Amino acid sequence: MPDPEMPDPEIAAPEVQPTADGSLTARSARYGQSYGSRFGAASQARQVFVEGSGTHLHPAPRILEVGFGLGQNFRATLAVTAGRPLHYLAYEFDPVPATLLRDVATSDPLATHPAWAALLEAWSENRGQPVQLEQPGVYADIRLEDVTLAALPRSWASAVYLDGFSPDVNPEVWSPEFLGRLADALQAGGVFVTYSAAGHVRRGLQAAGLSVERRPGPLGKREVLRAVKRLL
Ligand SMILES: C[S@@+](CC[C@H](N)C(=O)[O-])C[C@H]1O[C@@H](n2cnc3c(N)ncnc32)[C@H](O)[C@@H]1O
Repeated sequence: MPDPEMPDPEIAAPEVQPTADGSLTARSARYGQSYGSRFGAASQARQVFVEGSGTHLHPAPRILEVGFGLGQNFRATLAVTAGRPLHYLAYEFDPVPATLLRDVATSDPLATHPAWAALLEAWSENRGQPVQLEQPGVYADIRLEDVTLAALPRSWASAVYLDGFSPDVNPEVWSPEFLGRLADALQAGGVFVTYSAAGHVRRGLQAAGLSVERRPGPLGKREVLRAVKRLL
């Protein structure tokens, strides 16, 4: 696991990249992948994660995110939850510099949202410490630790966003055992979403007792997954 206090000098800092919908992402040298889709990072966040999980319609969303990354999914969630209480619990074991978080969001209309501004301030002041925000209607807890070792809440989340890097380079967050723990974190009726439609991910979710559905993906992605925890 990367040590947030001791960045590896051998690994270049992530570089900002434009994406096809005009939003920005960055490329991770550690994983050799981009944080968001080059076909549209903001579109992917909105379609796969926020709308895919029904969070835009939920009266009191509680999100558990694996891989806070550049905060794209967080901003996309803030964009649609005004006037409803949002609880956002995210895990990130390799936090990017505060300057990068700010730079990728410059073109995002959410860059001026008070919760995003507060997060940026806390991120630069805290330097590798977890961030907890309490803004009107927004409670965010960004934990800088390896999510596979974390004690996750049980029956808590209205939605789980699984947004690690791809299974071939970041396998620990896609293992059947960890998918089972994410399923446990969902409320009855809660929705798990991810951009991968890989067969082993589908089977892991089914083994965890979720009802799994393949959905058409955003530009550049034929299919994505949505999986629901049955009502008791
Ligand atoms: C595809 S990026 C996430 C993009 C992000 N969701 C966003 O909206 O900008 C994957 C993220 O997962 C993080 N990650 C991978 N494995 C992890 C682990 N075991 N624990 C915590 N974070 C992890 C990586 O450091 C990276 O920031």
